[in-house]
Amino acid sequence: MKVVMIGAGYVGLVSGACFAEFGASVTCVDVVQEKIDALRDGVMPIYEPGLDLLVKKNVDAGRLGFSTDLASEVPKADIIFIAVGTPTRRGDGHADLKYVYAAAKQIGQHLNGYTVIVNKSTVPVGTASQVSRLIAEVNPEADFSVASNPEFLREGAAIGDFMRPDRVVLGIEDTRAEKVLRELYRPINLIEAPILVTNWESAELTKYAANAFLATKISFINEIANLCEAVGADVHDVAKGMGLDARIGKKFLHPGPGYGGSCFPKDTLALIRIAQ
Ligand SMILES: NC(=O)c1ccc[n+]([C@@H]2O[C@H](COP(=O)([O-])OP(=O)(O)OC[C@H]3O[C@@H](n4cnc5c(N)ncnc54)[C@H](O)[C@@H]3O)[C@@H](O)[C@H]2O)c1
Repeated sequence: MKVVMIGAGYVGLVSGACFAEFGASVTCVDVVQEKIDALRDGVMPIYEPGLDLLVKKNVDAGRLGFSTDLASEVPKADIIFIAVGTPTRRGDGHADLKYVYAAAKQIGQHLNGYTVIVNKSTVPVGTASQVSRLIAEVNPEADFSVASNPEFLREGAAIGDFMRPDRVVLGIEDTRAEKVLRELYRPINLIEAPILVTNWESAELTKYAANAFLATKISFINEIANLCEAVGADVHDVAKGMGLDARIGKKFLHPGPGYGGSCFPKDTLALIRIAQ
């Protein structure tokens, strides 16, 4: 199976290397020439434990390559993942979809034969439908399906999270796409990780709902920490007492500086905008 990953950033590079490890033939495409040159020289653009070895192993095996030439990679693909950035749009808190839409239009121009185009970027509800419309617009003859497959990996534990995920979420609107994606994710199925198949909108919203819930746990325990300070309680004991309840769970209940990182701030803002 030939996979093309559009965007060789954190998610694209880790996912691409892991799909190659599963046995697929993968090309990661990026617009940044220096990034692709460095990757071809075995230099990783990010620090992620184990990534350099995984990339080298799969490059050496002939299953993983890097390119800036989207136009020549897209026609060869059975599956194309869009894994480009979706930062906060300046001024209004919405997710900025300009990179996703630009990638969709470029992909549409070069499709050849039945292809599944999969949104791996974190995107608001309605994006899969919009991507489908854009591709049909630029290439009315194209034979394609669109799917949504949000990514839940954590930076620093990305390979383990990808290879042994808590779940894979697939937003799918037709059986052809489901068959292709189930085949790609077969190694995940073999380790009995749940694969949740749902519609586009549910898959898109699941990612934001999960991140917002985790961010809420962090903010909640910080509020409780303030209360503990005021009343003479020990927040670590309170968090432990809460977290031992299986309905609550002990993770993300550590008081600290508040949530941050590359995703929670932008994704919580974007969820508010989706809801509005
Ligand atoms: N980083 C994480 O931990 C994480 C986890 C889960 C989900 N996500 C989501 O995944 C998406 C990607 O995040 P990331 O951290 O990998 O971003 P990133 O900025 O590391 O990588 C994006 C890459 O896409 C490239 N790109 C942009 N437009 C392109 C185009 N038209 N053709 C080819 N390449 C193009 C950029 O040059 C860049 O290298 C975001 O929506 C993010 O919210 C990120």
